[in-house]
Amino acid sequence: FFLISLSFIFLFSGIQNNLWARFVTLPSQDRIWTLTLTNKTVPKPAEQDSKMPLVMVHGFGGGVGLWIRNLDALSRSRTVYAFDLLGFGRSSRPSFPSDAAKAEEHFVNSIEQWRQSVGLENMILLGHSLGGYLATSYAIQHPSRVSHLILVDPWELVKRPSPPRWVKAIVSVVSLFNPLAVIRAAGPWGPGLVNRFRPDFKRKFEDLFDDDTMTQYIYHCNAQPPSGEVGFRAMSESLGWAKRPMLQRIHLLPSSMPLTILYGAQSWVDSSSGDKVVQVRSPARTKLINDASHHVYADQPEKFNRVIENLCNSVN
Ligand SMILES: *[C@@H]1O[C@H](CO)[C@@H](O)[C@H](O)[C@H]1NC(C)=O
Repeated sequence: FFLISLSFIFLFSGIQNNLWARFVTLPSQDRIWTLTLTNKTVPKPAEQDSKMPLVMVHGFGGGVGLWIRNLDALSRSRTVYAFDLLGFGRSSRPSFPSDAAKAEEHFVNSIEQWRQSVGLENMILLGHSLGGYLATSYAIQHPSRVSHLILVDPWELVKRPSPPRWVKAIVSVVSLFNPLAVIRAAGPWGPGLVNRFRPDFKRKFEDLFDDDTMTQYIYHCNAQPPSGEVGFRAMSESLGWAKRPMLQRIHLLPSSMPLTILYGAQSWVDSSSGDKVVQVRSPARTKLINDASHHVYADQPEKFNRVIENLCNSVN
């Protein structure tokens, strides 16, 4: 925890707005690492309080630190909350059920308990990747709490075709391990391994840090005992596809809830899944962000922040 705290302090030293970082303790005694951002120079603080807050949920293996390019801009006129999902980053790492539906429920319950503990009535809910999947599940179960659902390159909305048998055979051996086991097994070589296999993370944040801050952060997010990734594995088929794709359930979102899905044009996530959502659940809008990979918010932060701010302003 010492190392993750240190890389955390370096990470957020450039933030201009008021930043409150703390653990929110849930009734289950699990602790959720939470950031709250407000603009300190806003002329009328009451106006900021009346605006619908934005809550940001990161993806697999990530943490609040990945939003470093978005937090200041998005908290210009409204309060922004970002938290580490249960079992990821600095949050508690409880054991997860091995059943797909139960593991999903465990994540969703922790988000609802978090909302209650923070004392939020309603929110604009934004989720990236796995966070988008969980945000959708949350919004289906707690629709009155979500005033706009924003999904960014969401994980597995649509069922995939079954892969050939030889692919399955290889994958069944590889998937005996938790996805991040390699990073843990590498011990002191872990950060180097992150740099080697995900050099893009270092590049994406190059102009903010001239050292290894981001690599260290991601390493320390994932070098701890597995928890959230066990939950993720319970929810996944081999190859990381969802056992319970959202497309079968997304029509359960009330039609009064605005739904927007953003995709990175160069992402491995197939944006045509958004078109399938539009067919079964309208109204819904999809938007493609050019020159962006799966990590849309880090690749095109200005464009991303502008789009999200406009969506938030359409709420109030
Ligand atoms: C805070 O609000 C003021 C006034 O609306 C604005 O000019 C400023 O850019 C905001 N600061 C940040 C960091 O968003």
